[in-house]
Parts: sequence; structure tokens; C-alpha cells
Amino acid sequence: MRQKGHEYILIIDFGGQYNQLIARRVRECSVYCEVISYKSITLEQIKELKPEGIIFTGGPQSVYGEGAPTIDKEIFELDIPILGICYGSQLMAHLLGGSVETCKTSEYGKTKTYYNEECALFGALPQEAVSWMSHTDYIAFLPDGFKTAAHTDNCPTAAMYNEERRLYAVQFHPEVNHTENGLKMLDAFLKKVCGCVGDWTMENYAQTAIREIREKVGSGKVLLALSGGVDSSVLAALLSKAVGSQLTCIFVDHGFMRKNEGDEVEAAFSGWDVNFVRVNAKERFMARMRGVSDPETKRRIIGEEFIRVFEEEAKKIGKVDFLAQGTIYPDVIESGSGDAATIKSHHNVGGLPDYVDFKEIIEPLRMLFKDETRKLGQELKLSETLVWRQPFPGPGLAIRIMGEITDEKLQILQDADYIFREEIAKAGLDRSIGQYFAVLTNNRSVGVMGDFRTYDYTLALRAVTTTDFMTADFARIPYEVLESSSARIVNEVKSVNRVVYDVTTKPPATIEWE
Ligand code: XMP
Repeated sequence: MRQKGHEYILIIDFGGQYNQLIARRVRECSVYCEVISYKSITLEQIKELKPEGIIFTGGPQSVYGEGAPTIDKEIFELDIPILGICYGSQLMAHLLGGSVETCKTSEYGKTKTYYNEECALFGALPQEAVSWMSHTDYIAFLPDGFKTAAHTDNCPTAAMYNEERRLYAVQFHPEVNHTENGLKMLDAFLKKVCGCVGDWTMENYAQTAIREIREKVGSGKVLLALSGGVDSSVLAALLSKAVGSQLTCIFVDHGFMRKNEGDEVEAAFSGWDVNFVRVNAKERFMARMRGVSDPETKRRIIGEEFIRVFEEEAKKIGKVDFLAQGTIYPDVIESGSGDAATIKSHHNVGGLPDYVDFKEIIEPLRMLFKDETRKLGQELKLSETLVWRQPFPGPGLAIRIMGEITDEKLQILQDADYIFREEIAKAGLDRSIGQYFAVLTNNRSVGVMGDFRTYDYTLALRAVTTTDFMTADFARIPYEVLESSSARIVNEVKSVNRVVYDVTTKPPATIEWE
């Protein structure tokens, strides 16, 4: 939905793998945008939306393929600037009477590209630079009125444009980091071609969101399951600013939080105008974990128990009008390109409560990316520890303790993980590494301490770099940091005599061990 009084770019999704990234980049240029599937929007809706500009994404098909994604040709008559990317560029050429053919040599990856400085997208940029290509078709003949704006050694039309009609097309992917100056090209499209000034800021987003929540909620009651993670914490802050004590946050502390974390979450909300309920349910969860060592069983039990505790607390409050969820934009895009029928609800742990009495779900963060959520948290003056918290699985440390969970093992892991986090922070790496934590293996080995033989646990350290958590690389953290972490852990934590570092990527491993 267009934000009242703000610039808006419509990204029409033809199934490309980088559609999220395009949206990220447009917002980096301070222009609000949305990704909508070509199947889910009509020409009439586009006319009503009146976007400042439209971007066609890439897609895996050939424009001549059976059932290839397409769009009503009249879109080019709306006098709205359009930028086609990859498949989107071929579609533009095809629909406007040019021709698309199969390349003799497909281009994939970094490709030297020659740009025409007369084209507004490339004007102030170097005329020769690397772009990121991924195509087997190419634009063989331009539609009438178009000029070539870039070429490569193998591809005569790496970009084309019709200045008068404000139609632009690039065969390469400007949104991908490997395309040198790609962000500047997108910025040029937005600012020079579409005439945007870039009015998307967190300050005005926060104001708009608060106003909209107030309008929607009126005097109703809102309930939120607060996990202490970034999304639910930012949501709590936003709702608290909007409706204050009409909000109740239920924080189920299952006891598998990191060291001190339960208290930190409680402290962070102590000065806020909300009803904050902390349920200390560690004993209950531990009791259900007795004798359980299978990872999936652990996850299932924790999920079920979480919902049960949440429901019991919610019942004490009675009927609420709204249940708030911390769904964010990647969840929305991933589950069907804005196609409302297929959007999943984001559950942090185990699923939606069935028996909580509420009228409607609200998801005020559903248009924000993760880093925007963090910016909003900062804007709302949420504590830094919550804003910069790294991702943490719903079942918590329970799935970082291999085998059966005992109080002793939980204590060992909390202490070791705390030391590792301290060492990472001391080295100034805490905001650059995607996720880092300790895992308590169920393995024991022989060691020597002083003059004595030991037979104690092996602890694993895991640190990964990732952009999307779907794939990940192990972080190349300096040996010195591993050394100090290892030395401190074996000295300060009882029952650990060996520390190893996990050097597997995802895939084939996953980030978590269970
Ligand atoms: P894996 O282990 O699948 O983890 O590579 C990918 C990311 O997801 C997090 N994760 C979870 N987050 N509930 C969550 O909210 C869960 O049950 C869960 N399991 C894994 C994991 O920490 C990593 O960031």
C-alpha cells in the first residue's frame, strides 16, 4: 500500500531470484517500494497507485516460453518511468516490437561492460566497468525509438533506453553488489528519471505507523507474545508508543535464554507504558525435557509448551481485540510475492495459539526489512542490546545442547556462550558477524589440568557470515579471538576441557547444530 504523501516505486515481480534485493536497494536510496507479483496487480490498480516509477524484475523464463510471465502492453502508455532488469528488459523489448533471441554464448557472472554516458542511468559513471550478468537470451533488435545504452563483448544490448518515454532496460543486475556502481544506477533511475527526492525515512515511517495503529486499534486491547528478539521487541516498542497500556506483552521465559537475557528483556521494558507479564516457566519446560535427546522432539515439545503457557496467561487477560505478530517483509515476499492468499504467518515458536480469544491479527512491521526494523527500534529509543540482538532460535539453547538437557549442561553453555560473546564484542566484531554462539556437544574427551587427568565436555564455537540465513559461510574470525575465547572458556567454565571451531558452510551443514 502506498504511504500517504510519500513517493512510491512499484516493483513488478516476474519470479526473479533477486527481487528482494531490488527492493532493499530502492529503499537504500530512501524511496519506499513494494514488490508485487505480475499476477496480483491489474493495470487499473497501477493507475490508481500512481507510482513515481515501475521496475520489472528478472525471471527464470524466456519471453517466448509457454506461459511466460507477461504484462498488459498498455503499461507503457501510462507515462510512468519503467526500468526493466534482465527478464524485465527482454519483456520490454519484446512487448514493444523489438526481438529477443538466444545468445550464442550465455553470459553469467562478472562481465566487462561498456556504458554510454548519454544515458541518464550511467551519465556520471565510468564508461567501462564490471556488471553482473545471468542470461541466455538477449535483445537482438531494439524496439522503435530506443537506443543502445551499454554493450559487452558478447552482448550488443546490455542496456537500452527511450529517453522521451522514460523507458529504460538493463540486461545485467544493478542490484547485485558485483555490479560496480549498480546502486548509483538505480539511484539515477529513481532520482533523475522518476524525479524522486527520497523521502523514506524511519522518522516519518514511525509517525505514520503510530497514527495508523491508533486508527485501527481505537480503544481495543492488543496482545503480543514477546520473545525478546529484535522483531517482537521493536513491535512492542512501536505498539507501546501507539496505544500504551492497551498493550499487554507476554514474555514466556522458557529458561533456555542466553545468560542474563530474561532479565535484560524485562529491564528493557520496565520504563515503558505497557503491561508486561513475564512468566518464569523454566521448571515446566525442564520437566518436559527430561529424557529427551532427539532434536525434532525437543523443538516440538518446546513449541507446544510455549503455546500452552502463552494461552494460560492470555486467558487471565480475557478477550483481546488484536493479536500482534512480528512478521517482517522478507517473510511476506518469500511466501508469495505479495500474493495475499499464500502469505504465511510468521510464528516464532511452534505456531499460533488456537485458543486465544482475539478478533484480528495485526502485523505493523510487515513492510520492513530486518535492518529497517533495527532502524525503527533505534528511532523508538529501544535499548541497544535489544536492537542489535543477533538472531536466536525460538527453542533457544535447548537446541544448542546436544543430547538430554540438564541444569548443569545449561549452566555450562550459558557461561561459555557469554564468554564467547564478550570476546567477539571486545574485538569489535559483534555487528559484522551474522551470528555467533557456543554449542555444548555431548562428547567428552581426556585432558590434563595441572597434574590431573580430566574427562570433560567438548564445546564448539560457531560463527557465520550470511546475508539471508539460507546460505552461510563460517566467519574467518582472527585466531587471537579464538585463542582468548578458548583459554577463558576452559579456565572459567567448569566441565569443559576442549574447545573446537566449526568450519562448515551452510549447506551442507545448517547454522544451528540441531
Ligand atoms: P539453520 O540452523 O536452519 O538456521 O541454518 C537458520 C537461522 O534460523 C534460526 N533458527 C530459528 N529461528 N525459530 C526461530 O525463530 C527456530 O525454531 C529456529 N531454528 C533456527 C537460526 O538461529 C539461524 O539464524
